Amino acid sequence: MNNVQTGSTLHDDRTGVSTLGGMGARARGASGRLLTEIWMQDGATRVEQALARLLCAEDDGETELMAAMRYATLHGAKRTRALLCLAAGTLADTPAHMLDDVGAAIEMMHACTLVHDDLPAMDDDVLRRGRPTVHVKFGEATAILVGDALQAHAFLTLASLDAPGDNRIALVRELAQAVSAEGAAGGQAMDLSLVGQHVELDRIVAMHRMKSGALVRASVRMGALCAVAEDAAHAALYCALDRYGACFGLALQVVDDILDATADTATLGKTSGKDAAAQKPTCASIMGLQAARQFALDLLRDAGEAIAPLGPRAERLAQMLQRANAYLFKHAPCA
Ligand code: IPE
Ligand code: MG
Ligand code: MG
Ligand code: MG
Repeated sequence: MNNVQTGSTLHDDRTGVSTLGGMGARARGASGRLLTEIWMQDGATRVEQALARLLCAEDDGETELMAAMRYATLHGAKRTRALLCLAAGTLADTPAHMLDDVGAAIEMMHACTLVHDDLPAMDDDVLRRGRPTVHVKFGEATAILVGDALQAHAFLTLASLDAPGDNRIALVRELAQAVSAEGAAGGQAMDLSLVGQHVELDRIVAMHRMKSGALVRASVRMGALCAVAEDAAHAALYCALDRYGACFGLALQVVDDILDATADTATLGKTSGKDAAAQKPTCASIMGLQAARQFALDLLRDAGEAIAPLGPRAERLAQMLQRANAYLFKHAPCA
């Protein structure tokens, strides 16, 4: 294995990040690292502020439902999906203020899927982002409504964007598809139906692509959809973004499976070992930890290769891959 430890970032040349010309080398330098950290921190802060603004209390005071929505959405998140949207949006010259709101809408939808995923009828989890889950803190009925309302607020946010109607419709369609029966909802149904079963890897991969990959893939595409249409003129751009987003999304869930089996609860901010305890077939349980880890690395490399033809414009998308890579090496070092 040929890894280069560079401060907080461990660059693995199998990830394909180095296929982006001089980008990898620049990002490995101290100033490159600093610039990467600055745009990611700035982007996460801007999305956090957009979320706080969009989920604000009415004049007559905050209802318990709105308090629970803010609890579910604000604080403690890595904002990976929003940052992917921002990174793709930069590439398509999308105005920053628009990206903040689109990123916030995506994070609302993501929070919705997590709140419902944690419910007793689903994974029955008591800890999320280092705090009690929404149903533990506010009760099960409120948690169900939080998910419903966050989903509605995500679409309201997109419908209210200061953007041409065609772009808004495309964004709404993209987000809806990502959480539909062909996306997260269908993947979650599959997840529940496979409990206790030994299944082939391709079924796990199909489930992962739907239950969490679809929203990641949509996040990347939505960054570009804010500014440019998905048409023949932009076919190469969407093809590259699509492959990047699909590989990245699947990689994130594979990493999630690995960390569930290897990291501790304090590191994860959610209860570790839940998949095995609930008899969930995962990439880690089907492939073994070492092969699953290699699978995640290969997917991150494939994602890097997908955006290589876009050149330096895709630098931030490449940096997101480096961040995911570093996260894997930090929390799941070689078995
Ligand atoms: C859930 O997958 C994916 C969605 C929320 C749609 P997991 O059940 O593995 O996610 P964690 O481990 O609880 O975060
Ligand atoms: Mg789950
Ligand atoms: Mg879960
Ligand atoms: Mg998990």
